Amino acid sequence: MARPRAPRRNLPLPPRKPPVKPIRIALLGCGTVGEGFVRLMRRNAAMFERRLGASLELAGVADRSLKPIPELGIGKELIVRDGAALVERPEVDIVVELFGGHEPARTLALRALAAGKDVVTANKALLAEHGAEIFGAAAKAGLAIGFEASVGGGVPIIRTLREALAGDRQRAVYGIVNGTCNSILSTMTDAGREFADALAEAQRAGLAEADPTLDIDGHDAAHKLCLLVTLAFGVRLEPRQVYTEGIRRLTLADINFARELGYAVKLLAIAKDDDGAIEARVHPTMVPARHLLAGVSGAYNAIFIHGDALGSSMYFGQGAGQMPTATAVMADVLEIARHRAAGARGAGAPALGYPMPHLKRARVKPMDDVVCEYYLRFMARDRPGVLGAIASILGRNGISIVSVLQHGRGVETTVPVIMRTHEAPERNLKRALRAIGGLKMVAGDPVYIRIQERF
Ligand SMILES: NC(=O)c1ccc[n+]([C@@H]2O[C@H](COP(=O)([O-])OP(=O)(O)OC[C@H]3O[C@@H](n4cnc5c(N)ncnc54)[C@H](OP(=O)(O)O)[C@@H]3O)[C@@H](O)[C@H]2O)c1
Repeated sequence: MARPRAPRRNLPLPPRKPPVKPIRIALLGCGTVGEGFVRLMRRNAAMFERRLGASLELAGVADRSLKPIPELGIGKELIVRDGAALVERPEVDIVVELFGGHEPARTLALRALAAGKDVVTANKALLAEHGAEIFGAAAKAGLAIGFEASVGGGVPIIRTLREALAGDRQRAVYGIVNGTCNSILSTMTDAGREFADALAEAQRAGLAEADPTLDIDGHDAAHKLCLLVTLAFGVRLEPRQVYTEGIRRLTLADINFARELGYAVKLLAIAKDDDGAIEARVHPTMVPARHLLAGVSGAYNAIFIHGDALGSSMYFGQGAGQMPTATAVMADVLEIARHRAAGARGAGAPALGYPMPHLKRARVKPMDDVVCEYYLRFMARDRPGVLGAIASILGRNGISIVSVLQHGRGVETTVPVIMRTHEAPERNLKRALRAIGGLKMVAGDPVYIRIQERF
């Protein structure tokens, strides 16, 4: 016998999820990196939506000279000339600052934060000079500052130091962080060109600015070093505290002598934590030819880190360029967007790896106390006793010689004398070089390059 059927009941439907609203982005600056960012946004739109559960939308683009780019979906309705009104629009979630420079980037970032927007920037100059103010404002408001693209371009070094290496105590950071200088030095080394020629070639190839000062005098690397020091050692550092020396005075002759001694010359950004005393310096450095950093050529960047527990590790890749840099900007946007899509604010972790009140000012070791090995070159008149006179001044200043190289005896009036020294404090070296420069048998100023033998 058939069982009587239970009366039909309407089963309740599962609650329908409200559609997740798009994450809206205001872009400040649609130049090299900005355009790359929009390109990536369009190219990977479906993947981003799957990752986030929400779509990314462009709310507006501020740029003083931008024309519509239909293939990137930048119509004239999206373009404004001035970022001030754009960053405060209620529908904007994230402001991506790619103007570069200090102002109006600083004011707009602060206004965006005051209006409750998270900020992403690639601007190392801005963060190195005004970081305390901008990171402070973000922390106070519980908002995020993404700055992955500001150091190493496409090399994800910010996240690596802040998150992947957070469990270790870092001791030293050695960075090739300026692609312009690295390209110029590679051209000098590989093509045997003098500095001025190599710079002109980099400018023709778009690897150096018309005014290359910020790059070739080491200031850009110093800005980046400030951020690396904070992330690695948990202290605040300002660019004026970084000893900064660029590559202008390097000659092809010294690069060739360095090679003969088994070294490559690189512009290194170096930071060490000597039990609380921080070394922070940017200068041309001789690196053993067998070391990984010596093989980093052209516009590539690499950051070599030494930690107590992990030991050595190196992070390498495209240090600049439209699409590599755009990937780093996008990584920040996605991280923030993920939080926004889940209804949270901020990035969930302090931007610099430590809460702002826990970041102390760096106690920087004076350059005079820094100990290095050195390459020295003197142009000596070819007379008996010259080597002895130089060696005796070095000896009186506590500097001992590892090796001597002498070239071109005979026809010339002066000949280069090249010496490699053992470790000595910078103070001693300067005192010795002043005395040697005063010798009648030495012409011109002595040349020195610091050597980094052990990492
Ligand atoms: N390029 C790279 O490979 C790279 C790598 C790492 C980090 N970065 C950083 O990324 C940022 C952007 O660099 P970028 O190479 O993309 O620069 P860019 O090509 O010069 O682009 C900047 C854009 O913003 C516009 N702009 C600047 N200030 C403005 C203002 N006050 N009002 C309206 N428009 C303004 C510029 O217009 P105009 O052209 O008319 O001035 C330009 O279209 C910088 O902080 C840079 O240091 C760049």
